[in-house]
Amino acid sequence: SDPALVERARAAKAALGDQVFVLGHHYQRDEVIQFADVTGDSFKLARDAAARPQAPYIVFCGVHFMAESADILTADHQQVVLPDMAAGCSMADMATFDQVEECWEVLEEVGIADDVVPVTYMNSSADIKAFVGRHGGVVCTSSNARRALEWAYSKGSKVLFLPDQHLGRNTAVLEMGFSLDDCVVYDPHRPEGGLTPRQFRDARMLLWRGHCSVHARFTKASVDEIRSRVPDVNILVHPECRHEVVVEADYVGSTEYIIKTLAAAPAGSSWAVGTELNLVRRLANMHPDKNVMFLDRTVCFCSTMNRIDLPHLVWALESLAKGEVVNRIQVDEETAHYAKAALDQMLALP
Ligand code: 13P
Ligand code: SF4
Repeated sequence: SDPALVERARAAKAALGDQVFVLGHHYQRDEVIQFADVTGDSFKLARDAAARPQAPYIVFCGVHFMAESADILTADHQQVVLPDMAAGCSMADMATFDQVEECWEVLEEVGIADDVVPVTYMNSSADIKAFVGRHGGVVCTSSNARRALEWAYSKGSKVLFLPDQHLGRNTAVLEMGFSLDDCVVYDPHRPEGGLTPRQFRDARMLLWRGHCSVHARFTKASVDEIRSRVPDVNILVHPECRHEVVVEADYVGSTEYIIKTLAAAPAGSSWAVGTELNLVRRLANMHPDKNVMFLDRTVCFCSTMNRIDLPHLVWALESLAKGEVVNRIQVDEETAHYAKAALDQMLALP
């Protein structure tokens, strides 16, 4: 990265001192992550967002839904800044508030709404989290999906899982012993979600038809190709991958889990990693004694995570150093109240 920009970021951060707290998700570029005070997976970043209650400014290097959650979980006087407003998430965009309300109306018409506990993946907008909070549900991340689902099934016999069908299916089938037939996919673009009343009544897990545009590109063919080329390879993937990939994998978990698993791996071992490319490249550089490769070379970066680059970070920090708050992410009070209920429920999971 440009040394002049690195120097400007360093100077602006130094000028701000304890006034600013920078959080960075593991998918961020190296040029950005070097300035993070804390790095983490989505769970760790949600938990640590409130770790510096004295800092008036929180610069969130990640995507929009993470910055919203940080705003909800931090004190009122703290202002959260997202260096580029275009850093969204295509998965989060696959569930809109109106679509989810409409889905709930269908569940009421079919007569099962009272049996359903909504669970939303962190990767959803604040108003979806608020919807879930209003209906007694919980937020989950890839590191606690099983515990969140076990909690939900202690409250009701069915779960509506938003918006990532893959995380929902992989957790239910591979970690909780559900059958594939226990899961049905609700498609928000079809009348009644494309399901019959009977399918609604028989299902235990209603999966929203959403996916991550990066992780869904890994396929069983990606796994087969690597296994044939590198016979002793360990396959390590994120649970946002398709079921066909996750069943073939040796290790499955969140970005934080992926980092820890590789750190503990013996020298000389081979690893094909199915997650975002910035993280895989960083891991390959961190572990030159291990053979770390990308699960599929045709898959690329998360384009929205990559929107946060050094120029945007410099702009955000220099603006704050002048006392000017740019790109503030602020969730309205009522939405924040109910979304916080669902987030607090996640943070309270055993
Ligand atoms: P985790 O960091 O929680 O594993 O989530 C990955 C992700 O897709 C964030 O957008
Ligand atoms: Fe969204 Fe996938 Fe990018 Fe994560 S990696 S921010 S889920 S599009």
